[in-house]
Amino acid sequence: MKVKKAIIPAAGLGSRMLPATKALPKPMLPVLDKPTIQYVVEEVVESGIEEIFIITGHNSQAIKDHFDNNSIFDQMLKEAGKEAELQELYDLCSRASFTYIPQEEPKGLGHAVLCARDYIGDEPVAVLTSDDVIYGSEPCIGQMARVYEEKGHTVLGAQRVDWSNVHKYGIVDSDDPTGSTVLVKELTEKPTREEARSNLAVLGRYIIDPEIFAILERTPPGRGGEIQITDALNLLAQEQPVWAYTFEGRRYDFGDPFGMLEGLIEFALRREDLADDLMKFMAEKVKAG
Ligand code: G1P
Repeated sequence: MKVKKAIIPAAGLGSRMLPATKALPKPMLPVLDKPTIQYVVEEVVESGIEEIFIITGHNSQAIKDHFDNNSIFDQMLKEAGKEAELQELYDLCSRASFTYIPQEEPKGLGHAVLCARDYIGDEPVAVLTSDDVIYGSEPCIGQMARVYEEKGHTVLGAQRVDWSNVHKYGIVDSDDPTGSTVLVKELTEKPTREEARSNLAVLGRYIIDPEIFAILERTPPGRGGEIQITDALNLLAQEQPVWAYTFEGRRYDFGDPFGMLEGLIEFALRREDLADDLMKFMAEKVKAG
């Protein structure tokens, strides 16, 4: 079955980026001249998915304004002759529909996904966390949609991480330690290094079968007192196949200051108008020690 819908949870507290995220929603933090969430929406649209459901929180108005082409401010920018600067964004918006679904309280990623239940129905849905931005030659969720069509069941986007970082992620246990698409035996949310059965981490990309919604309804709060998508997926994996696919591309954690810095450098180096100056600046810094 083709994947046509995507959920982007955007209601988190953004506590790792305080105070920047006190008034500004975390997905609106800029990476160069684009907000983080725009990179994620580009990944969705470039993968051929046209229905986007953004889960909003207490301060999400800026997200709605960003993807709204017809606000009073848009009119002002057009009258001021600034349409060219916005053309890329307008083109992006014209390629998808945007629906905003409120999550009244930040009760976890699983709860955020559950908020979209009535909009998804009986079909698979892509879920993309808005602070994981993936740079690669082929959009990550598009790679995963191909695997989904081939396997016909839930696919998690994963990569190996340093063992010292397993406590930050949902970790996959599988009987196949080397394959690029492995059957999930068990999932654990943010295990300690000692608890972790592997260092294969789920990096904020999911294509999930609709059976997940009934499971989420009965998933109790887990790690951090939140309803975790990892716990619900773990239950799903006991009922039907769940695959972990090692995607091509590099993931940047834009919810964390150092991850954002790495991402900034990556994206700046890809820009013709910035790359040379950045290289010169970095060479000077290295020389100066
Ligand atoms: C969430 C998920 C976790 C996943 C991570 C990827 O955690 O709960 O399983 O590995 O995203 O970024 P968060 O970073 O929102 O705490």
